[in-house]
Amino acid sequence: MPDKNGFPHFMLKEIFEQPQALRDTIGPRISPENGEVGLADEVRISDDELRTLLRVNIVASGTSRHAGMAGQYMFQELVQLPVEVDYASEFEYRNPLIGGGELTIVITQSGETADTTAAQREAKKRGSRTVAISNVIGSTIAREADGVLYTHAGPEISIASTKAFTAQMAVLFLFAAYLAQIRDSVSKPVLRRWTKELLALPEKTEAVLQQAKQIQGLVERFYKFDDFLFLGRAIHYPIAMDGALKLKEVSYIHAEGYPTGESKHGPNALIDEYLPIVIIATCDRDDSGSVIRYEKNLANIRGFKQQAAKIIAIASEGDDAIESIADHTIFIPRAPEMLSPILEIVPLQLFAYYSAVRKGLDVDRPRNLVKSVTTE
Ligand code: BG6
Repeated sequence: MPDKNGFPHFMLKEIFEQPQALRDTIGPRISPENGEVGLADEVRISDDELRTLLRVNIVASGTSRHAGMAGQYMFQELVQLPVEVDYASEFEYRNPLIGGGELTIVITQSGETADTTAAQREAKKRGSRTVAISNVIGSTIAREADGVLYTHAGPEISIASTKAFTAQMAVLFLFAAYLAQIRDSVSKPVLRRWTKELLALPEKTEAVLQQAKQIQGLVERFYKFDDFLFLGRAIHYPIAMDGALKLKEVSYIHAEGYPTGESKHGPNALIDEYLPIVIIATCDRDDSGSVIRYEKNLANIRGFKQQAAKIIAIASEGDDAIESIADHTIFIPRAPEMLSPILEIVPLQLFAYYSAVRKGLDVDRPRNLVKSVTTE
């Protein structure tokens, strides 16, 4: 059993290992000379075949599926290919109309999850090529895939997945950039800017981790609540989903992740002083869509405040407007829209961790959960 390196729990150790996990996962795959992404030996599918791909399918379970949901935005943005994301446990039941000319990406920290193993076999049976993203070398899913992209996050012991999640999103972005390179769907200078931003993430993650004490203080005001609503728009919605999942997994507090815009169609009836809202409201000023969504988030927060809701906002450094309307604002370093999710999840992991600790729960071994579900 690996050591906790002086941390009280594996979950906190693994949260603090994310900068190094990102360095080990990203660094070796980007050429220092020209910023290009090199994955040929790992993907093991020819450029010609990748150039003629018609669609990408992503299947996974739990936190890995949330990474896949973020990957959908990255692939559609950079590669201009249609992407579908499925629960691995539901994949075969929907009679997926997939086949040759398609790529199925199978995401799994352990590489042994039974639902995901079955989904990969189903995709292959229907003629799709598969690439696995896994954190365990030589795992079943990795062995059975056509290509494998390992997340080099190191062993993940705590049942709630943290460092594997951020590493999975980094690998998905690398893979999207690699396909964009081969298919010329993004210009070289733009790709170079993207990979430069990717290489800057480990340091920015360290800056977010500096706020651990502040987040522990925040938990003192919130750990007694019974329900939470996590909200995010576009690529930030999967982060809201995983923030909610983390809180559920380790603190046993009920939490739901929801697309912010969709909250008006139902959940709004629940929103009052007893349902704290955690909203992802970062903004990439170089992305017009991101600025529009930011303005919408400001309006939503004002509306929720009129219903006496308590708001915890994740915002980009310098966005003071949010600080003046939210009850609590956690600022993270600025990053491009497609990469900001990798930073946004870190405060939510810490919030869940400190809530579980404050409640005196077994953080690393939550009840009724296992690290890998090996039976369907
Ligand atoms: C659950 C774990 O059992 O399986 C989650 O508790 C995980 O943390 C999920 O996200 C999927 O596991 P994997 O290994 O396929 O990514």
